[in-house]
Amino acid sequence: MHPTIADLQSFARQAGELLREGYGREHAVHHKGRINLVTEVDRRSEELLLGLIRERFPGHAILTEESGRHQGSEDHLWYLDPLDGTTNFAHGLPGFAVSIGYAAAGEVRLGAIYDPLKDEMFWAERGQGAWLNDSRVHVSAADDLLQSLLTTGFAYEDWVIETNLKHVVRFRRLCQGLRMLGSAALDLCYIAAGRLDGYWEVLVYPWDLAAGGLIASEAGALVTTLQGGAGYLTPPCSILAANPALHAKMRVELATSDQALGA
Ligand code: IPD
Ligand code: CA
Ligand code: CA
Repeated sequence: MHPTIADLQSFARQAGELLREGYGREHAVHHKGRINLVTEVDRRSEELLLGLIRERFPGHAILTEESGRHQGSEDHLWYLDPLDGTTNFAHGLPGFAVSIGYAAAGEVRLGAIYDPLKDEMFWAERGQGAWLNDSRVHVSAADDLLQSLLTTGFAYEDWVIETNLKHVVRFRRLCQGLRMLGSAALDLCYIAAGRLDGYWEVLVYPWDLAAGGLIASEAGALVTTLQGGAGYLTPPCSILAANPALHAKMRVELATSDQALGA
C-alpha cells in the first residue's frame, strides 16, 4: 500500500511536536564524531517515525540517519531525517526540521519537511508542484550571481571543510550574500520558496536530500550533483539546486573552483 502526502504530513507534524517540546531544554548530547552531535530528541523523533511507519506500512524499507537501513520491500523506501539541523537545535538556535521522503519503485514521489518553530510545512507530490502550507511555491527568477543569495553547508568530515572552503571563497566574491543555515532540508525548501536562490553542498546523505530535492524540483529548481548529474541520491551524495539559469552559472564556477583545487 502506498502512503499519501497526508500521511507524511501527519508523521512530520507529530515528530515536529516532539522537537518543539524539547527545544531550548537541557539535552543529553552525544558525539558521533569530533563535531557531529546527536541528542536524545533526534533518537526519540526517529523512534516515533519508525513506529508510525511500521504500524501503517509494515514491510516498507526505511533509511534513517540514526539507525541506518531497515530492511523491507525496496519498492517502498522511506527516507527519514528525524531532526535536520541538530547543531542548531543543541545550541538553542532556530533552524531545524523533520524531513520525510517516500520513494516507490526507486523514484521519490512524496516529500514533507516540517519546521515546528515556524509551523511551516513544505511538501510536494511528484508532478503536482511544491507547497508551503496551503500556498504554491516557486523558485526565484534570479539569474545573475551578483543579485543572488546563496547557501551552503558543511558535513562533519575534515576533507569536506577544506574542499568547500574553496567554493565558499569563490562564491562569496561573486554573489550578493552567502548563508549557512545549518539544515540541508530547509536550504532546499527555501530554494523552493524563492527565499534563497542557489544551494550547493559537497557531501550530504540521502536522508538530507530525498524530500527537499523533490520539493525544490517541483518548485522549478534544477537539482543535481555538484557535477550536474541526476543521481544526487546515490552515495557519496553532493547537491546543487537553483533555477536552471543560475544552476548553469553555479556549475561553471564550481568546476573552475574544482580545477583550482586540483592544481
Ligand atoms: C546536517 C545539516 C547541515 C548540513 C550537513 C548535514 P544534521 O544534518 O543538514 O546543514 O550542512 O551536511 O549533515 O546532522 O543536522 O541532521
Ligand atoms: Ca541531516
Ligand atoms: Ca539529523
